[in-house]
Amino acid sequence: MYHETLNIKNRFSRSASTYLSHGNVQREIAKKLLTLCEKNHGRVLDVGAGCGFFSDLLRPFCEELFLLDISHELLKEAQWHPHQRIQGDFNRIPFPNESLEGLGASMALQWSLNPQETLEEWGRVLRPEGFLYLSLPLLGTFHELHEAGREVNANKNHFFPLAHWQDFFDDTNFVIESAEEKKWCMNFSSMEQALHSVKATGVSYVKSPHHRTLRGRGFLDAFKEAYENFLTPFGQWPLTYQIGFLKVRKK
Ligand SMILES: C[S@@+](CC[C@H](N)C(=O)[O-])C[C@H]1O[C@@H](n2cnc3c(N)ncnc32)[C@H](O)[C@@H]1O
Repeated sequence: MYHETLNIKNRFSRSASTYLSHGNVQREIAKKLLTLCEKNHGRVLDVGAGCGFFSDLLRPFCEELFLLDISHELLKEAQWHPHQRIQGDFNRIPFPNESLEGLGASMALQWSLNPQETLEEWGRVLRPEGFLYLSLPLLGTFHELHEAGREVNANKNHFFPLAHWQDFFDDTNFVIESAEEKKWCMNFSSMEQALHSVKATGVSYVKSPHHRTLRGRGFLDAFKEAYENFLTPFGQWPLTYQIGFLKVRKK
């Protein structure tokens, strides 16, 4: 396993005990993603399933459902039959070619180190006319943290606009049937709570090797001062999630 992929796995495994209780936005995102789903899929795989927020909702939509995640610890939190939970890398899915009618991936593809290759692998296991349901964080997600981070020279993870993700499907054997975005704004009573909610769902990890983490009291104070610019009129600390939803069909 690549060093980078191992870091992602460890990051999510560490968040396993907190993901269920802090994953409120992820649950809302999964609900919204479900509205794109067609009824009566046969065999479906939820990739990057985590503790199964999206899988739980998908269950009535398919005859057979499997969960795949790189983190064994997160999968353990999902209340599923052990045979349906598969620990593995979504770049090497242990299913034969064209053996699945549907794939779900809620908030997972952005963790791929090479989305083009990952989509090729997903296309391999999907039957023609099979559907892929995707949700992804887009540009605008955590913009408060990014702007505060910029002030103190600690710019964090970057997210892309929806068009960037749509481009990945050019020249592939997928057709985008629908693409939309939706914003959620969460408010917290302290900066620490806002940052904790990010960490508790494993999303604070930054893929870029050049990132700097927030270190030292002075650094944190400066970050807090910059973040304060975003306080709501009620003194709450906002955190924005700008999420893209794609329904994609294999040709
Ligand atoms: C933000 S969580 C989303 C989990 C779940 N889909 C949800 O909506 O709550 C991203 C998930 O992708 C998984 N993941 C990241 N890279 C992966 C890889 N290469 N193969 C399989 N799973 C991966 C992580 O372990 C984590 O559970």
